Amino acid sequence: MIYYFSATGNSKYAAEKLAVKTGDTAVNIVDVLKSGKTPEKSEVTGIVFPVYFWGLPEIIKRFAVKIKNSLGGYVYCVITCGANTGNADKMLSKLLGRELDYSYSLRMPDNYVIMYDPCTEEKALRFLRHADKELDGVCDDINRREKKRAGSVEGGIKSAFISKLYDPFRSTKKFFADDKCTSCGLCAARCPDEAIVIKNGKPEWVKNKCQHCTACINRCPAEAIQFGKSTAARGRYNIWKIGGKS
Ligand SMILES: Cc1cc2nc3c(=O)[nH]c(=O)nc-3n(C[C@H](O)[C@H](O)[C@H](O)COP(=O)(O)O)c2cc1C
Ligand code: SF4
Ligand code: SF4
Repeated sequence: MIYYFSATGNSKYAAEKLAVKTGDTAVNIVDVLKSGKTPEKSEVTGIVFPVYFWGLPEIIKRFAVKIKNSLGGYVYCVITCGANTGNADKMLSKLLGRELDYSYSLRMPDNYVIMYDPCTEEKALRFLRHADKELDGVCDDINRREKKRAGSVEGGIKSAFISKLYDPFRSTKKFFADDKCTSCGLCAARCPDEAIVIKNGKPEWVKNKCQHCTACINRCPAEAIQFGKSTAARGRYNIWKIGGKS
């Protein structure tokens, strides 16, 4: 089984390609957690997700605890990133209570619009094409049950410090919808944390903290969601916007 978490489609794209090329099934971690069921044991388990602050998204930490007793023979992870995944694979391995047989750091377009302007669509497409080729190699590795690790010493040191910043950054305080909002409700429906509720036709952030996954801000069809003052002048990224088939 391949479990994935994805806000803007990169990790979903990777998980679905892996599923096709390794004859496996891709399942959304949000659905697994919502079902309340413990995942069934499978001989090969893949976990695919984005790196956040050189570490793990909060939802992955929760999922790791849930799945740790259902792991079979071969366990791997593919971590998508805008630049570097640091030691995130080691952090996952610690929570799973076992070594990962294989981990891979896959560069894809950066989606953290709250901090950076996303790259141009042309550059994002170039990234995607490159990632696609890399993924072919990853699929071959998995099919051969290769054993290798993604991390680096430099990544390990940075991860130790930068990952600690994630939790204080997860505040929802600065999210709001501007006048472009058409009341479609998609932001609330897609939020993996149930942090958004539509009230009087407009989204309201009802939790103090969320994943900061950017699904709401990057996938709002009207580009109406902002985070403080910095995002109004920035572009938006999601894989479907640049023609990704995921
Ligand atoms: C909260 C947050 C933190 C991020 N931190 C990092 C990071 O530390 N290093 C990095 O290379 N990319 C970082 N990114 C970029 C994402 O990991 C990357 O764009 C990923 O492929 C998005 O996956 P998705 O489309 O499946 O959601 C971050 C993105 C978010 C939303
Ligand atoms: S997705 Fe955008 S347009 Fe739709 S309700 Fe949310 S903020 Fe409004
Ligand atoms: S509120 Fe937005 S950024 Fe936060 S978890 Fe929900 S979709 Fe992701």
